[in-house]
Amino acid sequence: MDSVINAWREKLLAHERESSALRGGEGHGHGAHGHGDHAHGHGGHVPGGHGGFTYSNRPQDPYRTDDSVLNALYAALPPDATVLDVGGGAGRYALPLATRARHVTVVEPSEDSVEQLQSRAAEAGIGNITVINEAWEEAEAPSADIVLCSLVLHHVADAAPFVTRMQEHATGRVVVVEMMETPGALEIPFYERVHGSAPTPLPGLPDVLNLLWAMDIYPDVAMLSEETAVLDTDRADAMEQLRRRLGVEEGSEAEDRLRAAADELLNETPEGFTVKGVRPRRTAIVSWRPSVSEA
Ligand SMILES: C[S@@+](CC[C@H](N)C(=O)[O-])C[C@H]1O[C@@H](n2cnc3c(N)ncnc32)[C@H](O)[C@@H]1O
Repeated sequence: MDSVINAWREKLLAHERESSALRGGEGHGHGAHGHGDHAHGHGGHVPGGHGGFTYSNRPQDPYRTDDSVLNALYAALPPDATVLDVGGGAGRYALPLATRARHVTVVEPSEDSVEQLQSRAAEAGIGNITVINEAWEEAEAPSADIVLCSLVLHHVADAAPFVTRMQEHATGRVVVVEMMETPGALEIPFYERVHGSAPTPLPGLPDVLNLLWAMDIYPDVAMLSEETAVLDTDRADAMEQLRRRLGVEEGSEAEDRLRAAADELLNETPEGFTVKGVRPRRTAIVSWRPSVSEA
């Protein structure tokens, strides 16, 4: 167990050192408070958004029916459910879940995300969401039928106690959403060309499963249909995202390398700009019932 947990931690710390060096060595939280690492949000999920975390920047319809993750989450909801969304961001899933659940509690340390979530909830007239603006490790949160954790674990250096805490709060199931490919996979080919070496990838689904197995947790894993990862619908926005994510300053030699890489790697499709050589995105719903797995 210890070697898996240490390997996870080392991966995150190495990734964090590299990210911090790209930002000119500025202190940059990770792990317990790693919510600043938005650069690795899967920006392509909502094509056309701006910045490194389009998943939260572009509001999505809380009543949408074409979101495969959401539909899988709906299927996991018991009647009259309560949901605890750990690291719920700007409410990509909390808002729609609140339209079908009795109550949703979101634990989210980023103030910006909380503000976005609250204004979107008000706009949509959704009043059954409580927000706790804290990191999960410190939050005093109620238990819930479903404890959801979507694309958060890969930011957390001390993931085992984080998961244990989720189990303690789940009266029904813990549901973890993670991707097969490391978040940030779209920028890796650019990173190599701009910085001359491959970055340490953040943990992905195989690491999550190894971690859970090491903790004696044997979850159900449902793979969703693969999707083509899209960087952006607008080339200039795609370049801006890459510049920011890779720490490339305007007018620098690194920017010349980035432009050359973009000419080679960006592929314009009707859905937006994809990146040559990047495998399709495969998302998994990893879920288990703590009382059963701990028995
Ligand atoms: C990639 S975003 C995912 C947001 C949302 N769950 C979704 O799927 O759209 C990661 C989120 O995890 C949050 N986060 C990072 N560390 C956290 C922690 N220790 N406790 C709770 N949330 C955390 C970040 O602030 C951010 O909102």
